[in-house]
Amino acid sequence: MQIGKVKLNNPVFAAPMAGVTNSAFRIILKRFGCSLVCSEMISSYGIANENPRTFNLLQVFPSEHPISVQIFGNNPEIMAEAARVTATKADIIDINMGCPVPKVLKSGSGGALLKDSDLARRIVREVVDAVDVPVTAKIRKGWDNSDNGIIDFAKSLEAEGLAGIIIHGRTVKQLYKGEADWKIARELKEALEIPVVGNGDIKTPEDAKRFLEETGCDGVMIGRAALGKPWIFKQITKYLESGELVSEPDFEEQIEIIKYFVELMVKLEGEESAVLKLRKHLLWFFKGMPFVHQVRLNISRINTLDELIGLLDEFKAKGTVEKVKNRY
Ligand SMILES: Cc1cc2nc3c(=O)[nH]c(=O)nc-3n(C[C@H](O)[C@H](O)[C@H](O)COP(=O)(O)O)c2cc1C
Repeated sequence: MQIGKVKLNNPVFAAPMAGVTNSAFRIILKRFGCSLVCSEMISSYGIANENPRTFNLLQVFPSEHPISVQIFGNNPEIMAEAARVTATKADIIDINMGCPVPKVLKSGSGGALLKDSDLARRIVREVVDAVDVPVTAKIRKGWDNSDNGIIDFAKSLEAEGLAGIIIHGRTVKQLYKGEADWKIARELKEALEIPVVGNGDIKTPEDAKRFLEETGCDGVMIGRAALGKPWIFKQITKYLESGELVSEPDFEEQIEIIKYFVELMVKLEGEESAVLKLRKHLLWFFKGMPFVHQVRLNISRINTLDELIGLLDEFKAKGTVEKVKNRY
């Protein structure tokens, strides 16, 4: 599998997720075999204006390559400038054409570009001309249910030099509701020459295989199924490779993975910011565990690394007790 000149080890990619896919999370996903990670969406204005907080989001470590960095905006020249800066870090630049957040839509960026194909085309043209790395776009299946123009829209972007496209099978108006439509990915794959990667509701190894078989797409992109379960990438890649269903790591191993993630987060973000961000990750990690409802409140109150590690050790003990209980 290849996007432009970038060779990828397997067809299983990680979706960009704002507030989630930072360096620490991406490094963990790579460890579990994800072939292409992606940053969260980054403002082209923030990059072009050298905003220090935006620049933090552009941090990339060697073990993250190959990596795609996603930018968003509504101005072709600013997007081109942001792309030039981003290309010093990224192997692929992805353009966000699907974000449904009202503030983003109001500015004419993200999903709003699906309604303005002239502007979307100009953005792709300027960005492609500005950089040597391949440029992709992440789109949705349309603006709303009455929008039937996505195939023509995608073809027009392909004609401007796009190297690949990612399709999330929901409309912008749908947000995250309802089921993702996989049929549209097949139609897109049939219509385009460039690689097409499908996204939306691919949650298990079996889903990934079925998606690739049903759509003929070149790859799958996994988002929410990786929250609290980074090992999903090992399970999916192994299953696609050999048909083998790898079981989840056992509880003790999961705790060790979380501790490694915590260590990375603290190293990269500093203790205070890391601990705050880790609260939501802990809830994802422990979702479905029989004891999690008892400790939900404790998770939301963690403020220091010591408290967090203490809680993990408490979970480990509880989890071990549960496991023993379940055995008898
Ligand atoms: C918390 C969160 C943040 C997201 N942030 C982005 C983003 O920055 N850029 C983007 O293109 N999509 C973003 N998405 C959408 C995902 O990339 C993906 O398209 C969507 O979740 C559907 O895939 P899934 O069913 O595998 O989760 C986000 C989704 C979630 C849940």
